[in-house]
Amino acid sequence: MEDILILAIESSCDETAAAVVKNGRDVLSNIISSQIATHKIYGGVVPEIASRKHIEAIDRVIDGALEEAGVKKEDIDAIAVTYGPGLVGALLVGLSEAKALAFALDKPLIPVHHIEGHIAANYIQNKDWEPPFICMVVSGGHTHLVHIQDYDSFDILGHTRDDAAGEAMDKVARVLGLPYPGGPQIDRLSKEGDPNAIAFPRITLESDSYDFSFSGLKSAVLNHINKAKMTGEEIRPADVAASFQQAVVDVLVEKSMRACEELGVKKLALAGGVSANTRLRAEMEKNCRERDIAFCVPAPILCTDNGAMIGAAGYYEYIKGNVADMSLNAYPSLKLGER
Ligand code: KG4
Ligand code: ZN
Repeated sequence: MEDILILAIESSCDETAAAVVKNGRDVLSNIISSQIATHKIYGGVVPEIASRKHIEAIDRVIDGALEEAGVKKEDIDAIAVTYGPGLVGALLVGLSEAKALAFALDKPLIPVHHIEGHIAANYIQNKDWEPPFICMVVSGGHTHLVHIQDYDSFDILGHTRDDAAGEAMDKVARVLGLPYPGGPQIDRLSKEGDPNAIAFPRITLESDSYDFSFSGLKSAVLNHINKAKMTGEEIRPADVAASFQQAVVDVLVEKSMRACEELGVKKLALAGGVSANTRLRAEMEKNCRERDIAFCVPAPILCTDNGAMIGAAGYYEYIKGNVADMSLNAYPSLKLGER
């Protein structure tokens, strides 16, 4: 079969990213321009600023991706782009650029769901990784436990009823006075703390549920800090971070293991920004090993938002013939599995 080269564009949040991916699995380039330094000043992503920054960066990022891959625009087979979910203004920048390129070059435009992109990062990480498998998707905006039956067939087993795991990480980090984004800071600080220092709740909801809830845990952390302040007790931020992180990890691991067992699936993957978390990676790996479950987690750079994952997911959409026309719009709250 002839090689398929996909130029992929991602701009759903605060990273402007483009990549060239061959046959859905080989990354020829993966350029990411992060806006973190800008949004840090405000303690979180400011949507309007994100859109403007995407406009400034996008041409440079795409040219960089083509150059690094050593590929000319004309040699690309298709252009894949994230069309949801995400910030609408941010999504529209990548989408407009992808449409313009697809039109000018007369190449197919491939719509990609951002979460499907996160999941597909596993196909890059492990060239032999194939559905079916269970995937624990944990990002800043999403927490989904998904049964991936095929490249284009997803059964959502459960999702968060309130905060996403990354959102909880970012909020707890903020009250500990750590800069945005909080997840990597919690990860780093936890290494100096005791995960058993404070008994934060493991909220697992109904015993048969695959849903998640992190807002109660977040409140428990806030209460702990406020109480300590009132009573003049010393707060050890590293212990708070480590104990909180452990509570999140325990719930994610427990539900993932139960899903594998109950569905009789012996393959588990992690996806999304929070899967860059060192404790989560280590504990999920250990639990899978103990149960003889094959485990896959993308390299940290492929866990957080990037273009390569969109190129991987885009490839499977392309070979299925899922091509969009110029009327393709951005969908800020696009559901997984929805077209
Ligand atoms: O997938 P992502 O890049 O963007 C979304 O689609 O939301 O995820 C970003 C989230 C943020 O909440 C960030 O704090 C979290 O992933 N994150 C981490 C780590 N690296 C990024 N959380 C915990 N530990 C990390 N090492
Ligand atoms: Zn993401």
